[in-house]
Amino acid sequence: MTSPWLPVHTDRLRLRLYEPTDHPWLLDLFGRPDVARYLLDEPWTPELATQRLAERTGRTGLDGDAGALALAVEHEGVPVGDLALWLTDRERGVAEVGWVLHPDAGGRGLATEAVRAVLDVAFGDYHLHRVAAQMDARNTASARLAERLGMHREAHLRQDWWSKGEWTDTLVYALLSTDEAARPTRPGRHSSAHQRGWTASRSSRS
Ligand SMILES: CC(C)(COP(=O)(O)OP(=O)(O)OC[C@H]1O[C@@H](n2cnc3c(N)ncnc32)[C@H](O)[C@@H]1OP(=O)(O)O)[C@@H](O)C(=O)NCCC(=O)NCCS
Repeated sequence: MTSPWLPVHTDRLRLRLYEPTDHPWLLDLFGRPDVARYLLDEPWTPELATQRLAERTGRTGLDGDAGALALAVEHEGVPVGDLALWLTDRERGVAEVGWVLHPDAGGRGLATEAVRAVLDVAFGDYHLHRVAAQMDARNTASARLAERLGMHREAHLRQDWWSKGEWTDTLVYALLSTDEAARPTRPGRHSSAHQRGWTASRSSRS
């Protein structure tokens, strides 16, 4: 099911669903060792890019079977980034967000602008209760991004994740729908999680 508010336009960016023709730039982005350093995957091969792109083209909205939205980020018509929003608890409206920006496009606030737009979708359109972001604790650029977005740093988990041959720490950041920073920046899109019917009770963790 395609989300009716897509593509999303911000001041400098266009966020759109993936297309089968996205393979070259996606491979170029995720094939870079500096980009892959704190991601779960090793730098992508062309075969892995084919597989990952196929997964992304199926992630067209939280209401669909995949319960996930994968978006390509374009700046001046050029793809520069990859965003993901996926449900971790469909019944309660709990999700996670992930972000990747090409280093050539870094340092100008484009990732901040793109993720802000996805948080607008998460809280303003999907009326989610909670959106979290998890990252390798060494990924200071990612942590700074979460903090620029006003996400709350909730946890520093010590050596909870085995990644690329070593134990790594994880930072957990999150926003609740009731947080000031979760208020959608585009007008007329916000209603609280309770209006939508998500309950406040804690769900079991997977
Ligand atoms: C995490 C990642 C997206 C951050 O990219 P980024 O370029 O630092 O983020 P932005 O595009 O928002 O740019 C922010 C930087 O530009 C600066 N900036 C300039 N103009 C700005 C503006 N208008 N608004 C906000 N920031 C601006 C900020 O000060 C900041 O610099 P600083 O971190 O040195 O203080 C990027 O490093 C990345 O993709 N890494 C590889 C993949 C990865 O690890 N993803 C996360 C997995 S959890």
